[in-house]
Amino acid sequence: MDHVAAPAPEIETLTDRREALEDIGRNCSSNPTMGDIINRRFSRRSFMAGSLAVAAISTTVSPLAILTAEDARANGSNLSSFNFTEVEAGVDETHHVAEGYDADILLRWGDKLFADSPDFDPMNQTAAAQEKLFGYNNDYIGFIPLDGNPDHGLLVVNHEYTNAEIMFPKFASVVKETKDGKEEEKVKLGEYTKELVDIEMAAHGGTIVEIRKVDGKWQPVLDGKYNRRITAKTEMQLSGPVAGHERVKTPSDPTGKQVFGTINNCAGGVTAWGTYLMAEENFNGYFGGEIAEDHPEFKQLKRLGAPGGNYEWSKFYDRFDVSKEPTEANRFGWIVEVDVMDPNSVPKKRTAIGRFKHEGCESVVNKDGRVVLYSGDDERFDYVYKFVTKAAFNPNDRAANRDILDEGTLYVAKFEADGTVEWMPLVHGEGPLTEANGFASQADVLINTRLASDALGATKMDRPEDIQPNPKTGKVYVMLTNNTKRKADQVDAANPRAENAFGHIVEITETDGDYASTKSTWDILLKCGDPSVAEVGASFSTATTKNGWFGMPDNCAIDADGRLWVATDGNNEKDTGRTDGIWAVDTEGEARGTSKLFFRVPVGAEMCGPSFNPTSDTFFVAVQHPGDAGLATFEAPATRWPDFKDDMPVRPAVLTITKQGGGKIG
Ligand code: FEO
Ligand code: CA
Ligand code: CA
Ligand code: CA
Repeated sequence: MDHVAAPAPEIETLTDRREALEDIGRNCSSNPTMGDIINRRFSRRSFMAGSLAVAAISTTVSPLAILTAEDARANGSNLSSFNFTEVEAGVDETHHVAEGYDADILLRWGDKLFADSPDFDPMNQTAAAQEKLFGYNNDYIGFIPLDGNPDHGLLVVNHEYTNAEIMFPKFASVVKETKDGKEEEKVKLGEYTKELVDIEMAAHGGTIVEIRKVDGKWQPVLDGKYNRRITAKTEMQLSGPVAGHERVKTPSDPTGKQVFGTINNCAGGVTAWGTYLMAEENFNGYFGGEIAEDHPEFKQLKRLGAPGGNYEWSKFYDRFDVSKEPTEANRFGWIVEVDVMDPNSVPKKRTAIGRFKHEGCESVVNKDGRVVLYSGDDERFDYVYKFVTKAAFNPNDRAANRDILDEGTLYVAKFEADGTVEWMPLVHGEGPLTEANGFASQADVLINTRLASDALGATKMDRPEDIQPNPKTGKVYVMLTNNTKRKADQVDAANPRAENAFGHIVEITETDGDYASTKSTWDILLKCGDPSVAEVGASFSTATTKNGWFGMPDNCAIDADGRLWVATDGNNEKDTGRTDGIWAVDTEGEARGTSKLFFRVPVGAEMCGPSFNPTSDTFFVAVQHPGDAGLATFEAPATRWPDFKDDMPVRPAVLTITKQGGGKIG
């Protein structure tokens, strides 16, 4: 065995980087890509090839399904609770929204956030300018009303990561490479400088910006006193059981409490007391260097895929090099809470909620007043979590809620075949979480959350993404995006498909509407993918049209009427014949499992951030990494959305969707 293990993989091209970011951790094998698997097993086109269409349909669609669809339509029983004309699924260079709605650009990468922000100059970017401009790859969006006004408030937006190849001029190029005797073209990144790394760090993090509706259109308020950029360098504090622990002390921080920056903030949440939660997801990718196999942090870092080496920050910053500062990575992978009402507040990393690749952190106030926060660990075969605060939320005193996320119980889910789910507490001293097993304190349990959940025998899921409690019904929706590595002998009741290319949605019913319940029930709401290809095994209702199905559920939102809206990540021309988008999904009554396409993104993009204002007459959506398809570079992106100007790069952007003439969405 090598004396040193887990060296950073060599990441040279865009494709390598994205694949590595999606799948670090347990699985580093070079298995076929998801696209290959879809094409091999599930492609509609391959089923159709060489046969008459009629014959092909009869072999791919179950006759029962057709009959049921006709019955349903004939007796009108399968009526969706959504009332809009569906968008046609497809792929092109711009976005599309349902007829009768406006989708307006609110903020693009590089847009001004402050009265003194400089103009965006894409050919001459600097870190100093980027710190005052809207960041890259907008993901989570939350809206926090000011004075209860649904048309005026603070928009909080995560900037998850950067795409250097389409951000920086003259940086990436298309090169030819020979692999397995076959010549292929690839995008190769250029040589990083410290200034480029600093721009990347400034384009990460989050934005807090005041917005208001003026004459029916939303706009940013550039002199808003709460406006703020958070970056990979912003001062933060570790708080809760891990703060000050030996394992989070570093050469530059002997207190173990002061951290700089937050990274890879995917989804997030907004609390009942109006704070912004930023989830740290694939933080492992930012660390480089090597760590010896006998180092005490080796095992847990390996379980998280650190060092991932997807970025080159470690070349210029020792703290991102695990050979030099092996505990810095223990200060990432947390939920960060930001007090948006004080632009000088120091964000807190709330360690009681555990350390893993948090997709998001959506919460609900339980009937006993305690707050329950749900969080998925986005990796193949990882887990579903919830955190229940010890103290109750105080609706009358905002300050009283300041630190309630520091004390409570973190649970991990075990989905049983009998339809129950057991929420198992991650508490030091209970069950196997003892010193003898490597957990000497609650801090060890939390820093090593994945290892602790392994020890408890939690259910290995198909990449848990957003988890959304529905405050109206006691139900909770778990987006499981896909897992093409699940083998036939690894399927279980809650993850029922091998080579799960399209993902599924699990619905948890918390017992008696008690979100803090430790024994709940679960069901599968949807198995995703094209329902007309029988082998896919999708379970959309038969009233779902050819536009209405989707793959790879990722983020989701619940509107003011308690209805579910799902955003996707991974649909594209090759695999599903459609871009990502937002689908409205019925969860109740006869229409349960019916899905309709409401909005779709331009080519190369992923759909993120869906979020409503309190009256649900505005839908905030985030278009992430548009133009990132094929051999995209700054000079040749797959689209120049949203500006469509030759001298302006493709730009991630947040849009507001409103109904023409006003009214609730959908
Ligand atoms: Fe950042 Fe789980 O997607
Ligand atoms: Ca995502
Ligand atoms: Ca959500
Ligand atoms: Ca995703």
